[in-house]
Amino acid sequence: MLANKNIVITGAASGIGKATSLLAASYGANVLCVDLSEEAQTTASEITAAGGNAMALRANVAEEAEVEAFVQCCVDEFGSIDGIYANAGVSGGGKSVTELTVDDWQRTLGVNTGGVFLAVKHSLKHFLAQGQGAILCTASVAGLRANAGGVDYSASKAGVISIVQTTAYQTYGSGVRINAICPGLIETGMTKPTFERARERGSEDKIGQINPLKRFGQPSEIGEMACFLLSDRASYVNGQAVPVDGGLSSSHPWVYPRG
Ligand SMILES: NC(=O)c1ccc[n+]([C@@H]2O[C@H](COP(=O)([O-])OP(=O)(O)OC[C@H]3O[C@@H](n4cnc5c(N)ncnc54)[C@H](O)[C@@H]3O)[C@@H](O)[C@H]2O)c1
Repeated sequence: MLANKNIVITGAASGIGKATSLLAASYGANVLCVDLSEEAQTTASEITAAGGNAMALRANVAEEAEVEAFVQCCVDEFGSIDGIYANAGVSGGGKSVTELTVDDWQRTLGVNTGGVFLAVKHSLKHFLAQGQGAILCTASVAGLRANAGGVDYSASKAGVISIVQTTAYQTYGSGVRINAICPGLIETGMTKPTFERARERGSEDKIGQINPLKRFGQPSEIGEMACFLLSDRASYVNGQAVPVDGGLSSSHPWVYPRG
């Protein structure tokens, strides 16, 4: 599905980014694994050990010079860039709006929305010049409606969806596609505290029960959609925020049936 595609994936050290990196490589992509954490090297090593092609780069997605450098690194090392998955993000901690500081707000928006903006900006220079390219971003069901994060996190993800929609039109006729995935609850590094608390309380079986599949998701279930959207198989999918959430966002408010 991604044979010989050169793809940058951010947040590749953990969770959704790691799972997508492993899957993309298994579908034939050359993957540049980017993360603040040195663990991105472990992802790249797992890919090469399995016979794939990957390299790792430590970078902060919120720093413009570092984003420009990792996009260029893909071109220098693999020969070109065909796709980018701007996936790195932070939870913001879920404080209430009255407790949230300006620093909290700027940190969450800086990584989640600013990081996506910079990835779009710097990859587009290459994609527009070559007349093709696939941009994918991780938003969230929190960017669609309330109750999946704090005000900072939800606003940051609504911003990602807006960047996708607006960029799709600003790149009108260019051959570039841009989309977002809106994951529901996925077990990753980010949601580890939620899962640990539930396991301590013995209420693990309650996690994810409010969507009609009645369970939480795995990182690879987002990764499969990510690989599809990065591939030419998704050639007519553009400007969309695609929920991958077990059906959670399809409903009006709903009461969990007891007994
Ligand atoms: N897990 C969920 O339930 C869920 C739901 C909806 C959306 N998301 C989104 O999915 C994306 C991936 O998160 P995850 O759940 O896999 O969490 P995760 O914590 O397992 O992975 C996030 C990765 O991003 C990296 N990162 C954070 N800030 C960075 C920065 N400034 N520069 C570079 N790398 C940075 C972290 O080091 C980490 O490896 C995030 O954008 C998150 O908001 C997650």
